[in-house]
Amino acid sequence: MTIDKIPLAAVLGNPIAHSRSPLLHKHWLKKYDLAGDYVPLNVEKDNLETVLRTLPKMGFVGANVTTPHKVLALSIADQVSDRATLIGAANTLIFKADGNIYADNTDGYGFIANLKAGVRAWDPKAGPATVLGAGGAARAVIVALAEAGVPEIFLTNRTRAKSEALRAEFGARITVIDWVQAGNILEKSKLVVNTTSLGMQGKPELRIPLDGLRPGTIVNDIVYTPLQTRLLITAAQMGCETVDGLGMLLHQGVPGFERWFGIRPEVDSATRAAVIG
Ligand code: ATR
Repeated sequence: MTIDKIPLAAVLGNPIAHSRSPLLHKHWLKKYDLAGDYVPLNVEKDNLETVLRTLPKMGFVGANVTTPHKVLALSIADQVSDRATLIGAANTLIFKADGNIYADNTDGYGFIANLKAGVRAWDPKAGPATVLGAGGAARAVIVALAEAGVPEIFLTNRTRAKSEALRAEFGARITVIDWVQAGNILEKSKLVVNTTSLGMQGKPELRIPLDGLRPGTIVNDIVYTPLQTRLLITAAQMGCETVDGLGMLLHQGVPGFERWFGIRPEVDSATRAAVIG
């Protein structure tokens, strides 16, 4: 392969310096001995469309998009997967040979793949799940849980109206619970997922009462800085099965890498180590 043909991919966001995606994709490129590169690009919202239309002309085969561009990227794309439409956001773009942009969303896939890898015995149909938060990440998680067959989703968010809006959009399987009542539904839940930014480095702690957690309940935090959040530490002490959020990031990268570079990469302990770097 000549240098002119080396496939390139990028992650577009603002800010972007914190993104772990370059570490992830560069690790896989090296592991599979593939020609290619993956770069972080800080892009202003007003420039997103121009940049996306230019990248395919520069040898880019695709890109990830992250905060705050996930919704706008969807509207710019020429073709959109059903899943991305349902979630209302894109995180993975594929640039077709004719320059058209295909948008997909692999966050829900990454979320489920991480849960399955963390708790092999996870049975989505076993009982209700609690989702904390009703922002962008919650949308992907709710769509994925409903598709996996979770019978009931307790959705709780500081701003109740956002939970109500998600119930109106995604259906009757969602029961909206007041944020101040969040602690009371943990007891009935087989799975608890934090999709809020609470507990993340630099953000306030998640302060809902956790004494309702039961041994064996699966607790997943999509926050991965720190890897062991207060939620996960407390849950582990209470005998819950805990799954940290890093795996979601790793697994959501798999479909994009496969489409861009031609090999379906494996998520293993070396992948984690490379990204924790
Ligand atoms: P993301 O795309 O990562 O989900 P987001 O759409 O900004 O980001 O959503 C952030 C989530 O964290 C929301 O559920 C938000 O609650 P609100 O809808 O009430 O804003 C939640 N969140 C952020 N800060 C919070 C806080 N201090 N207390 C409670 N919830 C908080």
